[in-house]
Amino acid sequence: MYEKETVIKEKCIRSPFLMAPMVTFGYGVEDGMITEELISHYEERARGGVGMIIVEAACVAEDGRLSKHQIGIWKKEQLEGHKKLVQAVHDCKVPILSQLHHAGIRTVSGRPAAPSKFHGVLRGKGYTAEEMTTEEILEREQQFIQAAVRAQDAGYDGVEIHCAHSYLLSSFLSPTVNHRTDRFGGDLRGRMQMALDILSGIRRSCGDHFILSVRLGFDEPDLEASAHMAKAFVKAGMDLLHVSTGFGSTGSMDERAMEPSPDGFPFNIRIWAAMQMKQRVKCPVIAVGGIRQVQQGMFLLEQECADFVALGRALLCDPQWVKKIKQGREIVSCRNCRKCLWSTDYHKCPGWREYHG
Ligand SMILES: Cc1cc2nc3c(=O)[nH]c(=O)nc-3n(C[C@H](O)[C@H](O)[C@H](O)COP(=O)(O)O)c2cc1C
Ligand code: SF4
Repeated sequence: MYEKETVIKEKCIRSPFLMAPMVTFGYGVEDGMITEELISHYEERARGGVGMIIVEAACVAEDGRLSKHQIGIWKKEQLEGHKKLVQAVHDCKVPILSQLHHAGIRTVSGRPAAPSKFHGVLRGKGYTAEEMTTEEILEREQQFIQAAVRAQDAGYDGVEIHCAHSYLLSSFLSPTVNHRTDRFGGDLRGRMQMALDILSGIRRSCGDHFILSVRLGFDEPDLEASAHMAKAFVKAGMDLLHVSTGFGSTGSMDERAMEPSPDGFPFNIRIWAAMQMKQRVKCPVIAVGGIRQVQQGMFLLEQECADFVALGRALLCDPQWVKKIKQGREIVSCRNCRKCLWSTDYHKCPGWREYHG
């Protein structure tokens, strides 16, 4: 089962354990340019046996970043770094996707953007954003599509569209934020319009062989609405559904802050939601969140709760997690800190410190 192969769009994924996208911010990225240190970070995890890598969120626009140190894919000068990264991962025979992102309300490098005027608190911090005009929406759609074309030029096997965690596309999907009355709002269909335009635009521009994944919140605002969206995304060309949290929970990763799964299901609610999505949507599903031990992942795969299991913090602490479980070696465990230190200073991560002796 650790070595169960799956082929998607002619790309062989040699393990169902994938690397989840995780911004790092500690590898000296400036002006969105990928550094050698960041390439080594991914290369080490590709060597460690993961089936596929979904690279941390890459911003599609200079003025839509979450941090000044976020990687970018908004201009051709950035492609050199992406090409080297892709090559390093492909040399380990591991497919790689670029996660395309715009921070929306949480933008720090430009004017925060939202479907409707926003003034509120997300994860304990106050935010204000102006309503986007139709022209701005169409421009942002093109930025996602052009970023996907650049990703394809750089050699990526596909892209993942970030539609979760309260960022731009999540805010359009959310009835809490999207109060528009034009074709980009109103009912569920209207709220999906921007994501659908992007998906079909990428499929048209990048062709049928390019993998298209979507990271979607299960609570946008509830499971039924999210499942409805996922079905529409399949029709628009989505190949893979990566289930996470939406605007409601604003991307919280703290299991203690999440409501429990129904029926005593022994995993967090994101994983429960992935299992529900798998029963409703006709495309492979990636489950993510809180997987630390191999037995947990194997249970989900064997019980067909998900087609793939993505590992986040487990791989930050032990880049060789997959290889070690295959060899029966002990892994370095994530301590589930209340706030993960990787987006500030990874040297302080207790797992990283233990791994590096
Ligand atoms: C440091 C850090 C950075 C993250 N950055 C991203 C990101 O760039 N894109 C994304 O969709 N999720 C991001 N996440 C969420 C992870 O992909 C994952 O869903 C979450 O950590 C739960 O999985 P885990 O318990 O296996 O870590 C990040 C998480 C962490 C800890
Ligand atoms: S040990 Fe703490 S800092 Fe390190 S990956 Fe886990 S949560 Fe993040």
